[in-house]
Amino acid sequence: MNITDSIRYIGVNDREIDLFEGHYDVPNGMAYNSYVILDDKIAVMDSVDANFGEEWLKNLADALGGRKPDYLIIQHMEPDHSANIGRFVEAYPDAVLVGNAKTFAMLGQFFPEMELPADKKLTVKDGETLSLGSHVLTFIFAAMVHWPEVMFTYDAADKVLFTADAFGKFGTLDTDEDWACEARRYYFGIVGKYGMQVQAVLKKAAALEIGTICPLHGPILSENLDYYLGLYQTWSSYGVESEGIAICYNSVYGNTKKAVEALAELLTAKGCPKVAVTDLARDDMAEAVEDAFRYGKLVLAGTTYNNGVFPCMRTFIEELTERNYQNRRIGIIENGSWAPTAAKGMKAMFEKSKNITFTETTVTIKSAMKDADRAALEALADEMMA
Ligand code: FEO
Repeated sequence: MNITDSIRYIGVNDREIDLFEGHYDVPNGMAYNSYVILDDKIAVMDSVDANFGEEWLKNLADALGGRKPDYLIIQHMEPDHSANIGRFVEAYPDAVLVGNAKTFAMLGQFFPEMELPADKKLTVKDGETLSLGSHVLTFIFAAMVHWPEVMFTYDAADKVLFTADAFGKFGTLDTDEDWACEARRYYFGIVGKYGMQVQAVLKKAAALEIGTICPLHGPILSENLDYYLGLYQTWSSYGVESEGIAICYNSVYGNTKKAVEALAELLTAKGCPKVAVTDLARDDMAEAVEDAFRYGKLVLAGTTYNNGVFPCMRTFIEELTERNYQNRRIGIIENGSWAPTAAKGMKAMFEKSKNITFTETTVTIKSAMKDADRAALEALADEMMA
């Protein structure tokens, strides 16, 4: 695939993977993107996952058409992109590896056996350039998007911004699906914690004329870039993307679920444009995290367990707070048969979070919903809609 006249796609699709990063469900697989820039000098942009070395080297050889690469630019040392650096060095011992000081520290950690002569390493600084001929590459450090060594690369000739993990999504390259859904789940799962750092690099990118975004996962973006940049702006500033309410719950015997269903009906009847309900014990937790960040309002409904918060609810709240969950309004439903304490426990877990407000109404169900509980649900619905 040609990205421009002189930039070729040499990445691979992983259809066998079960869990990305050992954690995320990827029903449509994963793409590990890699690119080659053909000029007087040739630069390869990152490698791919360990299982695809042969396919990647073949893609590279096909793109090279008998030439040899001069540089391997390492934008990110996470193994889904760096695992084949060793094979690259074996295949092309004359090529120079390009990275920053942190890249090379990690290279030594991941490849302790690799002995690289000093003239085969080029350590660049933020803003430094590398000329390939007509293509002059500028390295833009993007620390913590998603690891500390990450850098973007800008090719001024073709107006292409290579963005490492940023603007990536789950799914192979040939998956036909909406970009935002899997890009949002990917973003909040993987870099959600580092909104401030994403903001910093977006600021640097705003000064560039960008015609194409080449991420290390997901499709190459070449149209309507304001849409993608706008979503990254919203996500990284912890802004509200869509009007609606996320309800995330656990239910042991179905009684808390009944309360959730009743609340969802009330919210819909009151005109809520979207009520996104997740069963934290059974549905994909990463979807729940994505929804919690997508909407400005969240209802947590959980049972009391061991005098505290139910395990999957505890995990969910930790998933939010460790990603700097903020600027949100939260309502709570708790259930308990003798001493309900879940609400207190759930609220306490947000103590260090910024700009979280709780509704005045907390709904307490004693074992099963009763008619009297409906008034409390109604009050909660009114507050969530206010
Ligand atoms: Fe796609 Fe942070 O690795």
